[in-house]
Amino acid sequence: MHVDQLDAAQVAQALAEAESDYQALLAQGLSLDLTRGKPSAEQTNLSNDLDGILKGHYAAQDGTDVRNYGGLDGLPEAKALFAQALQVPADEMLIAGNASLTLMYQVIDFALRFGFRKAWNKGASTPKFLCPVPGYDRHFAICEYLGIEMVTLPMLDDGPDMDVAEALVQELDNVCGIWCVPRFSNPTGCVYSEATLARLAELPKLAQNDFIVMYDNAYAVHALTDDAPALGNIRDYAVAAGTENHIVQFGSTSKITFAGAGVAFLSTSKANLAVLKHHLGFQTIGPDKVNQLRHVAFFQNHEGLMAHMTRHASIMKPRFNAVLTTLDAKLGGTGMGTWISPEGGYFVSFETRPGLAKTVIRLASDAGIKLTPAGATFPYGNDPQDSNIRIAPSFPSIADVQATMDAFVLCVRLATLRSLASSGTFGS
Ligand SMILES: Cc1ncc(COP(=O)(O)O)c(C=O)c1O
Repeated sequence: MHVDQLDAAQVAQALAEAESDYQALLAQGLSLDLTRGKPSAEQTNLSNDLDGILKGHYAAQDGTDVRNYGGLDGLPEAKALFAQALQVPADEMLIAGNASLTLMYQVIDFALRFGFRKAWNKGASTPKFLCPVPGYDRHFAICEYLGIEMVTLPMLDDGPDMDVAEALVQELDNVCGIWCVPRFSNPTGCVYSEATLARLAELPKLAQNDFIVMYDNAYAVHALTDDAPALGNIRDYAVAAGTENHIVQFGSTSKITFAGAGVAFLSTSKANLAVLKHHLGFQTIGPDKVNQLRHVAFFQNHEGLMAHMTRHASIMKPRFNAVLTTLDAKLGGTGMGTWISPEGGYFVSFETRPGLAKTVIRLASDAGIKLTPAGATFPYGNDPQDSNIRIAPSFPSIADVQATMDAFVLCVRLATLRSLASSGTFGS
């Protein structure tokens, strides 16, 4: 029954049951962790053949000895392979080390201090970034660390609220960019629509500064099912809009092969690539091309990579099912929270009733269950509604995901009923 229809006596009875279930949960002395979106060992095992795959053959297709220095923008065969995942031409790719987050940091730091064309910190006011919320905490951490002011805007089912984005870019001084995770967004799992991509590609034209769309396509190939929604092609929209210098796209194999030893890449216009290469040349003589060649040998081509992702999906799907079937069975129709069923990516985003996320997370923590801290999905750790909780089911075993979710729904039930009982407003 929906909680808003419970009268005072029913709330009191449901609360007494929840309190008693919670005491039983505390007595179990659980120790579970559903915090970070790491691949499980079962997933990383899928790529163990990377080890030793070169069997002493260290020559790239053009004869380059990959063990040596050089090749700042990466191996051409690695560009060709990963370009297909980002739907861009191979000559607009740069292949780097293991973390796309490093590339994002480098791009922002570069744009801030030097600028692709005009440094962001040369304006009269503090550089600002648009942050669709809820979003990825590490994006927000980069901005906070580098002194970029974050301005939030709502995330809708088909991407950022572009009406608000367009208004903010024109109303505020020195808005320099926007964070985007366009397919299976972290954490809501939404996929940006074609209309959103078209408007994103136009957005730089409205901005006063040298605006950049930070297009973090971290989950480009991470579908859970064959019929998961596809993502349109931002580059085509950018070329049509004449804004290809203002889109920088990122990806990596962190959640394809090894999270700590994968390959990261970015794509942007050739003009931007030239400027970036010059900048990177002061930081490195070249990336780990041995690892790049290992990845090419491992996947062979895009079809090989996609077949590998099907194997990931078969590991991830039961974990997502455990989360979603528990939410549906225990909280469906109760009005105690809302969530969407993502068709890919790494997260399920749960919304409690306003003001309860911190309480739910504290109740879970007291019962030995670690959840991502409340507010983590918002700039400065501040969720004004105190309602968003990010659930990351990839790493634990299916049994642990199930045990965690059983405990989670109980914590949501308890927090909601306690708040209803203390507010004293009931249905009839
Ligand atoms: C949206 C998003 N971008 C980037 C990353 C990290 O990528 P990388 O391992 O390539 O630095 C993550 C990891 O959770 C992520 O969720």
